[in-house]
Amino acid sequence: MKIRFAEPDQPRSGAVVVGVWEEGVLTSAARRLDEATAGAVTRALSAGSRFSGKKDQLLPIVGPANLSASRIVLAGLGNPDSTDARSLQQLGGNLVAHLNGAGEKEATFEIEVGQGAPIGQAEAAAQLAFGAQLRSYRFDKYKTNQKPEQKASLVRLTVSTTGATASQRAYQPLQKTADAVFFTRDLVSEPPNVIYPETLAAQAEGLAEFGLGIEVLDENKMRELGMNALLAVGQGSARPPRVVVMEWHGTKAGGSAKRDMPLAFIGKGVTFDTGGISIKPAAGMADMKWDMAGSAVVIGLMRLLAARKAKVNAVGVVGLVENMPSGTAQRPGDIVSSMSGQTIEVLNTDAEGRLVLADALWYCQNRFKPRLMIDLATLTGAVIVALGHHRAGLFSNNDELADQLIEAGKTVGEQIWRLPLAESYDREIDSDAADVKNIGAGRAGGSIIGAQFLQRFVNDVPWAHLDIAGVAWSTKDAATVPKGATAFGVRLLDRLVSQYYEKE
Ligand code: BES
Ligand code: MN
Ligand code: ZN
Repeated sequence: MKIRFAEPDQPRSGAVVVGVWEEGVLTSAARRLDEATAGAVTRALSAGSRFSGKKDQLLPIVGPANLSASRIVLAGLGNPDSTDARSLQQLGGNLVAHLNGAGEKEATFEIEVGQGAPIGQAEAAAQLAFGAQLRSYRFDKYKTNQKPEQKASLVRLTVSTTGATASQRAYQPLQKTADAVFFTRDLVSEPPNVIYPETLAAQAEGLAEFGLGIEVLDENKMRELGMNALLAVGQGSARPPRVVVMEWHGTKAGGSAKRDMPLAFIGKGVTFDTGGISIKPAAGMADMKWDMAGSAVVIGLMRLLAARKAKVNAVGVVGLVENMPSGTAQRPGDIVSSMSGQTIEVLNTDAEGRLVLADALWYCQNRFKPRLMIDLATLTGAVIVALGHHRAGLFSNNDELADQLIEAGKTVGEQIWRLPLAESYDREIDSDAADVKNIGAGRAGGSIIGAQFLQRFVNDVPWAHLDIAGVAWSTKDAATVPKGATAFGVRLLDRLVSQYYEKE
């Protein structure tokens, strides 16, 4: 879908979308359209419709007289003073879904913001376009036989606004964000015979063109480093594991030492999780192609930071493995010696993400001495039991970092909820035979147990763990996220960086 910004009163075809404030108050664009159509807008509003201009309400008026456009869509804007970036994104997304449903090829949005709104007109137009773009994502490259009505119809979107040049400029960073989100969604959506450790590493290597430093560690290098926990997960697969290190240098020389310390992002990249010898049931196993979502979010985030030349130093480390059962697979009961030196009793080979992250976290903190570490992982089914698909689980050893993450999540609409870490949970992973075991005694507190395990591999650096098992993939369309891979975390962490770590 092509997006452009244009001054009002350009000729338009296709659908014309205008805003209506709550209680049916017409915006000036709606008023002009009402006049041009001999009252079609006011007639539609008074024809006993439930549309009253509330947020998320849409009302199509088909085939208005005296107009080149095929239809008018009235979009509820709610209270004129409450229009913010997020509500505009959602409106843009909802409109794209609506217009694709109606089979429109072209549309013009003429949305204005109220005088008291916390956002200016140029930024508002850009945010509307951003939401529209985010919703337009599709992963249909493997569909060879789509009927026209199965394809997206909307190919061209014009956001009509005074100060179109300023809007275009405001849209540029958002376009980069959407590109990174789409990149991540693509990686997560690809099937596991296409995306596996080597090919995912190759995708990351392709990002060198953005100015990222990329390094790929192969098995020999990992063995040399002592990453035996990660290697153990991969040893049952015919596909060799990889670790990818991505570096972005965005600070100028002469800054403070603290500013130069990199922000570190670590991702679980299990390209397929069968469970290993502790094999998963067949039903739903195909979902485990997206068990690499944490790594795809880290890769997409690094791409975005580089593309928009973020004024920070950042490093991304992803552990890429395939968890398969075979004659060479690890067994329940195996004891492996992790890079940290701690020995791990592997009592369930399906609790593999934490083994991968144990070595990735340890490696990252020792090599880069980061200012903070944030890991993302589809780590536990238990987090879905706790929070459903509405929130990711947050665990942290640092209240300030936790609060920053929660705040950033609210702003971008990727919500997270903090769960506890505590000594008493940590006791549950003491092993009889080794330093630590990879599961607790029962199913109770499964996500916390997973987080406690990770914390054993974190020294006193501020650290946060996001368990994204419930939010990485969605089975329902949402305003700016069509069903499928969500890329949850890319926007959240980009916001965290821009709001708290670039301005200082
Ligand atoms: N990748 C899974 C977690 C998962 C489950 C993600 C469902 C998305 C949807 C993880 O590797 C796993 O298998 N975890 C186990 C841990 C258990 C063996 C302690 C789980 O959640 O059942
Ligand atoms: Mn597993
Ligand atoms: Zn897994």
